Amino acid sequence: MRFMPTFQELEELLKEHDGEFLVFDNERPRLVILDPKKYDNLGMGSQHRSKILVTGGAGYIGSHTVKALQKAGHDVLVIDDLSTGSAASVDCQLVVGSLSNQELLKQIFSQNRIEAVLHFAGSIIVEESVLNPAKYFQNNVVCGLNLLNCMVQFGVKKFIYSSSAAVYGNPQKVPIKEDTPCLPTNPYGETKLIFEKILKWYAETHDISSVVLRYFNAAGAEVDGSLGENHPVETHLIPKVLQVAAKQEAVLSIFGADYPTPDGTAVRDYIHVVDLAKAHILGLDKLKQESGHFVYNVGTGQGHSVKEIIDAVMEVTGKMVMIEQSARRPGDPAALVADAGKIRDELGFQPAHSDINSIISSAWNWHKKLYNLEKSKNLEAETA
Ligand SMILES: NC(=O)c1ccc[n+]([C@@H]2O[C@H](COP(=O)([O-])OP(=O)(O)OC[C@H]3O[C@@H](n4cnc5c(N)ncnc54)[C@H](O)[C@@H]3O)[C@@H](O)[C@H]2O)c1
Repeated sequence: MRFMPTFQELEELLKEHDGEFLVFDNERPRLVILDPKKYDNLGMGSQHRSKILVTGGAGYIGSHTVKALQKAGHDVLVIDDLSTGSAASVDCQLVVGSLSNQELLKQIFSQNRIEAVLHFAGSIIVEESVLNPAKYFQNNVVCGLNLLNCMVQFGVKKFIYSSSAAVYGNPQKVPIKEDTPCLPTNPYGETKLIFEKILKWYAETHDISSVVLRYFNAAGAEVDGSLGENHPVETHLIPKVLQVAAKQEAVLSIFGADYPTPDGTAVRDYIHVVDLAKAHILGLDKLKQESGHFVYNVGTGQGHSVKEIIDAVMEVTGKMVMIEQSARRPGDPAALVADAGKIRDELGFQPAHSDINSIISSAWNWHKKLYNLEKSKNLEAETA
């Protein structure tokens, strides 16, 4: 029997076996390990160590999850075409390329022992998906299929998918449970739902187990300000409000102030990106124990209106935010709030950073760095 423990497994085994362990290679005892670092240095071949493949790992949520995976002791390999992500956001093996490149995918799977795939790569702007649906079907469905088919070919069986509350469309009832009918109102949501359905069938027919995470609104940044949200085209509320607070934009448009919500503005469920990253680790644990197809909302169960977010930003940053009222955007639901009970009960998921002030202050730390605000403040003080 051939047994190649990962570095982390080896450390555990050594603890159990009093610092000695016999490694077999091709049924022959190869060496007794006294020091796990030596095993690593001997390079039992990096291709022998199992890795988690993260697509879109250089993007916002992907890069935070890569960090969490590394903290949890995983070896991570990222593929990203850097269309919206940044190489500087990851500190691991990065293959720059697109999931549209099937040859590249085959190379990755043949040269590495991939244990599981976390699939973040995709196009994410709702408005753009309405103008150019073909881009969304191509990138979110066809590229995803390339990936799945490669997994079938190389026998990789575990998949975690970044889905979205956009699959629900305009739900009749809030908070939203996972069994709420999915009726997306734009091509982006439709592509996310189509790919969920593909995963369900691949679980049945190809034995690829999947955890589908339907994110509500990802927000926030690493608390130390080292990593955060920086989409080339920003459409998400919190970074947009912070752009105005940081004087990068003059005014914030509120799209719709006549919704049937307490203050008339749209209500969303904001989940801190560090908590969201943790949900992926829990998803991987689930697939280590069970096979099948599992769907979870990832949110807090708490809704915040646009006006509440603006007030919280002004309080946390101490800056004024100029607003203007605009018409509702077509297809924007009044309220999207998760029923987060299933992921709590089944995976033990408990958001730890997702109160709105923690989300905003971490995002503000990141934005201050992004826009060099601290430096310019110091400069002002020096020249005053
Ligand atoms: N941000 C949110 O609030 C939110 C909410 C729900 C769901 N999601 C989903 O989460 C995932 C990640 O979102 P994000 O906010 O981090 O977006 P992002 O744009 O920051 O990250 C996507 C990453 O994928 C890469 N990419 C895109 N197409 C690719 C391709 N064909 N091949 C290789 N790399 C490619 C981009 O360069 C980028 O680094 C997406 O699938 C999105 O649909 C995000």
